Amino acid sequence: MLHARVGPGVRKRPRPAEAGVQRQGEVKFRDVRLYLVERKMGRSRRSFLTQLARSKGFIVEDVLSDEVTHVVSEDNEAAGLWAWLKGRGLKELPKMQVMDISWFTDSMREGKPVAMETSHCIQDTLPTLPEGSTPTVSQYACQRRTTTENNNKILTDAFEVLAESYEFSEMEGPCLAFRRAASLLKSLPWAVPCLEATQDLPCLGERTKAVMEEILQYGRSFEVEKTLSDERYQTLKLFTSVFGIGPKTADRWHRRGLRSFTDILAEPSIQLNRMQRTGFLHYGDISRAVSKAEARALGNIIDEAVRAITPDAALAVTGGFRRGKEFGHDVDFLLTTQERGKEEGLLVKVIDRMKQQGILLYCDYQASTFDMDKLPCHRFEAMDHFPKCFLILRLESRHVEGGVQRAEGDDRGWRAVRVDIVSPPMERYAFALLGWTGSRQFERDLRRFARMERRMLLDNHALYDKTKEEFLAAETEKDIFAHLGLEYIEPWQRNA
Ligand code: CTP
Ligand code: MN
Ligand code: MN
Repeated sequence: MLHARVGPGVRKRPRPAEAGVQRQGEVKFRDVRLYLVERKMGRSRRSFLTQLARSKGFIVEDVLSDEVTHVVSEDNEAAGLWAWLKGRGLKELPKMQVMDISWFTDSMREGKPVAMETSHCIQDTLPTLPEGSTPTVSQYACQRRTTTENNNKILTDAFEVLAESYEFSEMEGPCLAFRRAASLLKSLPWAVPCLEATQDLPCLGERTKAVMEEILQYGRSFEVEKTLSDERYQTLKLFTSVFGIGPKTADRWHRRGLRSFTDILAEPSIQLNRMQRTGFLHYGDISRAVSKAEARALGNIIDEAVRAITPDAALAVTGGFRRGKEFGHDVDFLLTTQERGKEEGLLVKVIDRMKQQGILLYCDYQASTFDMDKLPCHRFEAMDHFPKCFLILRLESRHVEGGVQRAEGDDRGWRAVRVDIVSPPMERYAFALLGWTGSRQFERDLRRFARMERRMLLDNHALYDKTKEEFLAAETEKDIFAHLGLEYIEPWQRNA
């Protein structure tokens, strides 16, 4: 027999803490075993910090053994620390969290082991990490920095095809799994060379790994290719590319046997709504990407309209362009005024002015349904309650540096562009800005993190602390990150 059984009367070897090393305080966190590295810290400080941690219910080991889960070091020279750790003959070193003292300090302040953030990692560890381990990457997109540079586009494109296909079939679980996996890979500063390199990464399940392995090995995935050539996928993809046609409508029409735009437009029993009619009318223009230069031009035009009404207002770009993207499917703006309660009237006036200027091709205006008494909202993916409008504007080529993006042979001198404007009251500004900056995956994870890790509810309007039973005020995005105990992530690092 390979493994001797531990019978009823047989006691396992007592663990160090039970053997009397842990003297003061009651143990509150059994899964965390700290070891403080004396190098650079010094003996007396180490002894002080050990007592502090034990008094707060942490287990602190005096000796570095395989029992340790968290190594805390004040040594910021990573190479030397790793060399020293590797020389200790530990089997479990790849599994240990090697943390900077800032993690320890934060945990003492909170009175519990805090979630790991990038600032808690010992810097510059990549080249000298022990074999088979990578620095811990958070499962939450809001604890990762994701720029527009994607080192794993082949993999993330594949995952996104599958996610979309599951979305068409209303299978939320697998859809989200592929979205999370894609988002995680987007945050990596390196291209995944082989499956083994991903073994310590979160968010990658069996299925995502199987797809990844095929692509890494053969450059293509059977499942993805099957999806791409699937007739239903292709039709739903085509139909939903029209402004005003969602997956439900697309599916209904597909089930009725419709396969092309001509089929839809020729079907007498189909009554297109105003949004869909506009969608078909400007299909070429609004399915073409909007450039940064076009976004800037639109910002100037709308800003001018705003100034003509009041000097006391501010227009800010949000959405993908705030995150530094070169192209977008629309341009998103936030409009606010210092005067309390005037934001709704202002947005209506701005729309009116654009109508007079002859640039308003389509406008879906949604009045405010905001009511602080109805918060916090527990439906996280729900629309916010601020006054807002979904527009299609006419953008003249001469207003754009380098002219508008146009199809070959198009010499109209203008194009249609999708624009969203949302107008929150001033005191809700930070929440609205954070919510509308995106990405969608970043927002989802912010909310999930708030709920799961902090017992807080976050949406586009407010942040509610369920433990304290109160709303937390914020003037800036930084205030919100701070309330959540998150490191601040810049807008251009939110391309999750
Ligand atoms: N958003 C929202 N409520 C809406 C519409 C959008 O809160 N009714 C948020 C989304 O969650 C997203 C952000 O606004 O985070 C921007 O949405 P969108 O324009 O769809 O996406 P972008 O990230 O800007 O991408 P793109 O460049 O393709 O426009
Ligand atoms: Mn956008
Ligand atoms: Mn938008």
